[in-house]
Amino acid sequence: MKRSLDAVAAKTIEVALEIGLFDALKQDGDELESLARRLKVSARGLRPLLYLLTSLELLTEEAGRFTATESGRIFLQEQWPEISAALTPAPEWQPLGQAVRLGVCPGSAIEGEGDGGGFFAQVVPMLFDLHWPMARHLASHLPLEQGRVLDLGAGSAVWSLGLLSQRPELTGVAVDRAQVLSEVAAPNLERHGVLQRYELRAGNYYEVALEPGAYEVIFLGHLLHSDGLELSRQLLAKCYTASAPGGLLVVAEMVGSQPRGLDYEANLFDLNMLMFTERGLVFTAGELEQLGREAGYQVEGWVEGPGRYPVLLLRREAPESETTMQQCICMKTTTFNVSEPVCRDFQEPARACDRTTSELIREAMELYRLESIRPRPSLL
Ligand SMILES: C[S@@+](CC[C@H](N)C(=O)[O-])C[C@H]1O[C@@H](n2cnc3c(N)ncnc32)[C@H](O)[C@@H]1O
Repeated sequence: MKRSLDAVAAKTIEVALEIGLFDALKQDGDELESLARRLKVSARGLRPLLYLLTSLELLTEEAGRFTATESGRIFLQEQWPEISAALTPAPEWQPLGQAVRLGVCPGSAIEGEGDGGGFFAQVVPMLFDLHWPMARHLASHLPLEQGRVLDLGAGSAVWSLGLLSQRPELTGVAVDRAQVLSEVAAPNLERHGVLQRYELRAGNYYEVALEPGAYEVIFLGHLLHSDGLELSRQLLAKCYTASAPGGLLVVAEMVGSQPRGLDYEANLFDLNMLMFTERGLVFTAGELEQLGREAGYQVEGWVEGPGRYPVLLLRREAPESETTMQQCICMKTTTFNVSEPVCRDFQEPARACDRTTSELIREAMELYRLESIRPRPSLL
């Protein structure tokens, strides 16, 4: 084993031995579901345990089949008895065996309706420091000057703030629990001088009403891992409806490696999701892309940057069918690159009538379309 054992890794090995994992594994490997059935434990519980054991090199995983390693067998026979006797158990991890057997968090989940935002009001200021460099970097990949941006589960609103702090004409909607918005997001946005461009919408983001087709960019920053697969599907479907045609969905997450054994921290976090959330898990890049496609988005790509994990960009395609032609033309005007001089021509009149530059440019283009663009007779 290459890495030295921390208390959680030691507890993981202890539970694996308790449930008879190493004895049960077949020579040619086992898949998660059949192994869970044989061991009479929950597949949700066993899954992160197996991944952490692959990071510890006690197991290997290939094409979804887990096998015990020879070096692991030797370690367990020769070194483990002495090491385990010397380790101090981590008290909050004592019920890991129960979590693996039943697949549910043994205590009350750290987040949720009951909490009302108290837990995250403490945590999200730290997340701001962690995500801010990447949030700012990301703005260069989002060439958007006008429109509305949505930050779901906004926390400090770090992700949308990275963009709005650099684009003075964008406006934002931040959704989170009331306590998080009032104690963290609002003061943070105030500090950055952008609070007046935000609407703070308090509530559960599964229930809060979102205007259909209204948002050019939607941020989902570190939400999906705690919501798990089924709720993430629902959330992405809701985002798709709220995305403007041609708009982007930005998904920032801790991303599980492929193969899973390569990233110990992501696997440790995955085990945390089992212990402290109701449905959480860490997704791989492929799984996140698949979630996006299922919701109707196209995968635009991954942005690498100063963060530890790259960020996924998904795009809602603009309509192209004949029946939506008029809408399509209007949408295309919002994504046109307008040259600096043209933009300047519109800025003063826009200020004078208290409207945005892009609105006036869009109107001018629409007027041009009505007056000057005629269908070819062959199309009539
Ligand atoms: C892990 S934090 C991420 C915060 C921020 N997006 C970031 O990346 O730093 C998750 C945030 O989502 C909020 N949240 C979780 N579930 C929610 C729900 N169902 N409705 C509204 N907000 C929720 C939490 O209050 C918290 O602020």
